[in-house]
Amino acid sequence: PVIHVLNGPNLNLLGVREPDIYGRDTLADIEQRCVRAAGEAQIVFRQTNHEGVLVDWIQEARETANALILNPAAYGHTSVALHDALKTLSIPVIELHLSNPAAREAFRHHSYVSSAATGVIAGFGAAGYELAVQAALTQVRERG
Ligand code: DQA
Repeated sequence: PVIHVLNGPNLNLLGVREPDIYGRDTLADIEQRCVRAAGEAQIVFRQTNHEGVLVDWIQEARETANALILNPAAYGHTSVALHDALKTLSIPVIELHLSNPAAREAFRHHSYVSSAATGVIAGFGAAGYELAVQAALTQVRERG
């Protein structure tokens, strides 16, 4: 299987950005953790600060991915375009957050992504990415 892991705005700064909230792992460290967790499965790991680029990558996943893991970062709280793009997919979609947005500011409590996702993993820091890869592989296996 091929698993796409897409990361949204400001996640390029992981490791130095508010480490008390987001941890000290860099995005490169997290990519390695995903590759390790994936075993034989293939990981395509990407980050962008641009909403439209995320839409393009989600559309691309229609043709090329067996599962999609998305940390939409702040766009999860704002983007109907991401919701609509995800609704076009028929593969498992896992929404992922390092922190637990439900336990933070009120403006983080709503997600446009959750209602278009198969499931959500939040609050487990960088380890959440490994959990998401496991969840994606299980979903692919169980859906046949
Ligand atoms: C985040 C949570 C979002 O609320 C925030 O805007 C981010 C990161 C997380 O991984 O915890 O940029 O998606």
